[in-house]
Amino acid sequence: MTPILFDPAKDDVGTLVALHQQCFPDPWNAAGLAVLLAGQGVFAFFTAHGFVLARATGGEAEILTLAVALEARGRGLGRALLQSAARQAALLGAQSIFLEVGTDNPAALALYAGLGFARVGQRKGYYGGPDGTSDAWVLKAGLPLPPGGKFA
Ligand SMILES: CC(C)(COP(=O)(O)OP(=O)(O)OC[C@H]1O[C@@H](n2cnc3c(N)ncnc32)[C@H](O)[C@@H]1OP(=O)(O)O)[C@@H](O)C(=O)NCCC(=O)NCCS
Repeated sequence: MTPILFDPAKDDVGTLVALHQQCFPDPWNAAGLAVLLAGQGVFAFFTAHGFVLARATGGEAEILTLAVALEARGRGLGRALLQSAARQAALLGAQSIFLEVGTDNPAALALYAGLGFARVGQRKGYYGGPDGTSDAWVLKAGLPLPPGGKFA
């Protein structure tokens, strides 16, 4: 299923909340997600099984979250969502795209590496949880995304 651009006026933010709950230990609620979606340059693409939320302002874009339901993983949806967001960000004038990813998240790291993201920074203790904190890498790619690529 091709990701479609989320329209806050007609699409149900509850769909995104349910997907976020399946994917993250500290999920966003509907009110928080609605506030994010109302922000300048913020947009989302979604299907019934996953979504990406991103922001494009001032020539740069940022992936705010990416979530694919457990039962739909490994079929290319994460990559398709990311590519949809990257294309939209480029349309909005972004020349580069950033994101944070847990250093202990091999699936996401492999996805981003395959799309040409390179490491540009590290945030110590970025993710918090009941079992302690974990670090994040800051990754960056130029837009448009190349068809492949590896960490620099
Ligand atoms: C990370 C996530 C979005 C990937 O979604 P997905 O739809 O399963 O990914 P895709 O099927 O599009 O995979 C694209 C590439 O990612 C990599 N990848 C995906 N899952 C992987 C896994 N379990 N192990 C290793 N590499 C993996 C592969 O390189 C894959 O390319 P290939 O299929 O050609 O080998 C999904 O696992 C998820 O929602 N995880 C929980 C939330 C999360 O971590 N979000 C990212 C936060 S930064």
